[in-house]
This record gives sequence, structure tokens and C-alpha cells, in this order.
Amino acid sequence: MSFSDIGIENEDKIFELVEILDVRGPRYTSYPTAPVWNNDFSEEPFIDGLAKIHQSQKPVALYIHLPYCHKRCLYCGCNSIVSNKLDRLKRYNAALIKDINRISDVVEGEVKHSWLHLGGGTPTHQEPKDLEEVIDTILNMFPGIDDAERSIEVDPRITTEEHIKLLQERGFKRISIGIQDFDENVQKAVKREFSFEDMSNFVDLCRAHGFSSVNIDLIYGLPLQTRDTWITTLKKVHQLEPDRLACFGYAHLPEKIKHQRAINIDELPSPRLRLGMLLDAQRFFVDNGYQSIGIDHFAVRDDKLAIAQNAGSLWRNFMGYTDIHSLNMISFGASAISEFDDMFAQNITNPNEYVNRIENGEPTVVRGYILDEDDRIRKQIINDLMCNLVIKLPENIGKSSEYTQAALKLAIDDIKAYESIGLLKADSKFSFRVTELGKLFLRNIAMHFDRYLPNQQDVKFSRTV
Ligand SMILES: C[S@@+](CC[C@H](N)C(=O)[O-])C[C@H]1O[C@@H](n2cnc3c(N)ncnc32)[C@H](O)[C@@H]1O
Ligand code: SF4
Repeated sequence: MSFSDIGIENEDKIFELVEILDVRGPRYTSYPTAPVWNNDFSEEPFIDGLAKIHQSQKPVALYIHLPYCHKRCLYCGCNSIVSNKLDRLKRYNAALIKDINRISDVVEGEVKHSWLHLGGGTPTHQEPKDLEEVIDTILNMFPGIDDAERSIEVDPRITTEEHIKLLQERGFKRISIGIQDFDENVQKAVKREFSFEDMSNFVDLCRAHGFSSVNIDLIYGLPLQTRDTWITTLKKVHQLEPDRLACFGYAHLPEKIKHQRAINIDELPSPRLRLGMLLDAQRFFVDNGYQSIGIDHFAVRDDKLAIAQNAGSLWRNFMGYTDIHSLNMISFGASAISEFDDMFAQNITNPNEYVNRIENGEPTVVRGYILDEDDRIRKQIINDLMCNLVIKLPENIGKSSEYTQAALKLAIDDIKAYESIGLLKADSKFSFRVTELGKLFLRNIAMHFDRYLPNQQDVKFSRTV
């Protein structure tokens, strides 16, 4: 059965299954997941990791976090801060530039990038000339290889033609546009308002300036959404002809994220409605020429992510899905996470503290984790599941410790139960493919391979479906 074949009758059955398997769990944007990392991580291993990257001469992915926004969207769960004080933004940029220079010195200016991504917050909340300074610093200190990919996420309401021209001149061809929903009432309820016409003009502007790949972000599960309003939004989005789409389930965590408390919980769609909207998006985009990537992303069928998924070589990191496996990623800015073969290292989250540390010449990395062999094997299995929709033990599993071999065989025994309810299909004794239905439960399946989950009873995760 494909998503396109799922009728309302089947939806009810799927929902029954969701209720049975309804648990909270990690999203697995990393393994081990962030709550497992050490809070007293020193910068030394991070600097050693940079030296290894320097020696290897392999190009890296670079991420720059620009946390500031002009206005708060009530649903926002990103590491973002509202500020319109120009001097505050300028001071942050100066610190960022100093940090980029410092890390470039460690690798003697000899590391190149194959992918550069600017995220936030809202990178285009910066004045174009201030943004230019940051971009030029990173391009000088970490030059791109031929065909290096450059991407940025923007709030289209405040991104100007001047920004877009600058990005074009610096070789940016991928843009990610936050739309979330087109319905007026939903927009009012989350305090993020704009018209379809403005978005359509913005997409045209990007394309006219050489952006060959346009991604659109949507969120289902927002207040006042109904199946009808959601389908109308999907149809409008389709008119914009995006190359990629992300369709996130709204993560409502008011205990942790204060501004979400302004959202009226009585207006939030029920779990049944949320599931219906996810299935609507799956059906709609698959029927309209897109391939689903993971559970909630879509790409046109000749997109390199779709091609990589078909070849079983899709991978992902904190910047998103990629067709390059295990790219080392160096990140700059408050809360930014660097990811090396065997390490995660995160900068201090608060932008003011980040700036103070840089100005005082203090280390910015405050949290992190060094992966052991067991972690690396499980990371590979979980990433393969989340990206390529397969579960397979690595070929050289026989060389790993007895503990790892025994634990993974137990996990495989556990997940056989999913085969009997149609979420998995066995290819061999130790390898499985996820079915269309199983895609909805990727997080549930991944949880069986997570060594640390049994000790995380106190962590408040979001619902897995
Ligand atoms: C870094 S954010 C925002 C980028 C940009 N500032 C904008 O507003 O378009 C990237 C995406 O995360 C998603 N997002 C933010 N908060 C979320 C939440 N609570 N639940 C699910 N998705 C969320 C939105 O789709 C958003 O476009
Ligand atoms: S959704 Fe974007 S613009 Fe809105 S608060 Fe979050 S990061 Fe800022």
C-alpha cells in the first residue's frame, strides 16, 4: 500500500495503530541524542578534531548560526532571539568573524568547504552589508571547492532584493523559505502574517537571481488548522513549484519554550487531525511528482536527495539531508553544533555569553560528546533507518565487541514484532526494509537501537507520530 492509496477507512486503522504505539521519543537528528552529551565538555578534543580534519585535507560542511529575528512567531522552537538593536547584531557579527578567524588559524587556512549553510533565527535580519562581511570572512578563510553548495534559510517577510543579490554574487543557489501555512486565521493565531502574492513574488525574485533550488518549510499541527485549510495551503504551495519541501509536525513544548504558552491549546488540532494532515501532505506531494524523503521531507524526483535515497546513500546532519556520507561539519555561532566522525561539540547557547566568551578569548564549546565504537555503529544504523528506510547491521559487525553484537541482535529480535503488523519487511535475517506505513513510525523503530534511552526517563521528548 502506498500513501496515495490510503483512504479515510484505512486512516482510522492507522490511527488505532498510532494510539497503540503512541510514545514520546527522540527525533534522532543525532545519535547519541543531545541529552546524553556531556555538559562539562572542554574545547581540547574539538581543537584536536580540527587538526585531524586539517591533516585529512577533506572538504567540510560549514554552518553559521545567526540567531536574531525581527519578530517572534509563537510556534517557534528554533534557537532564536528577537532583537532589533543594530549595535547588538553588529557586536554578534564581530564576535562571529573573530571566531571564524580563530578556527581558520587552527587549520592554517587550509580547509575548504563543499557545503556552506547559513541558518538561524533569520540570517537576513542582518543589514546586507553586515551579512556580506560575515559571508566574505568565511569564504576567505574556508574557500569553496569547485561546485561547493551554498544555502540559506530566510524569513521571506524581511528578505530584500539587496540580500538576494548579495547571496547570488556569493554563489548561493539554495534557499529555504519559511511559509508554514497560508491560512489567514492560522497566521494570525501564530503571529506570522503574509499574503500568497507576496510569497509568489518572493519565489520569483529568488529564481530570477539564480536560485535553482527553492525549499519551502511548512508546519502541520498549528492552531486553527483543519484538513480543508491545510489542503488549500498545500495547493497554494504547489503553485510555487518548490524543488524541496519540509513538512514539520508542530512541536508544542510550552514547559520549555515560554512564548509557546501564548498559543491557545484548545485551538490545536487533535492527534487524529495531525495524522490526517501528515497523510494529506504525503498523498498530495507524492501524487504531484515529489518523492518523500524520510517521513516529512519531499523532493522533486530528479533532485539529488531523491537519487541518493534510491541508491541507499542518503545521509543527514544538523543542516539537513545530504547526499554526502559522514561530512565533517564545523559550526560557528551561539548554540551551533560541530559534528566530526567521532564527536559532537556545541557552542554556548546564549548569544550574549557567546559574544562575551569570544571577546574575552575564552572557549565557546561547552557541551559535547565523543562517540565510541558502539555509538558509531548505532549511529550508522539509525541514520540509515531515518534516511534510507532500511535496517541493516554493518558488514563488519563480527569485528565489534561481544556486547555490541549481542545488544544489536536483541534489538533485531525486538523489531521483528513490527514485521507482523506491516511496518517492516524482512530482506534477510538481519536486514529489513521500512514499508510505507512503517515510515510513520521511524522514530519508534529507531528507539530499539538507542543504548541510552532506558536511562532517560526524565527527559521530555515530543510524540513520535
Ligand atoms: C530556523 S527555523 C526558521 C527560519 C526562518 N527564520 C523563518 O522564519 O522562516 C526553520 C524551520 O523550523 C520550523 N519550526 C520552527 N519551530 C517549530 C516547531 N515548534 N515545530 C515544528 N517546526 C518548527 C519552521 O518550519 C521553520 O521554517
Ligand atoms: S520562525 Fe523564524 S522568524 Fe519566526 S521566530 Fe522562529 S526563527 Fe524567527
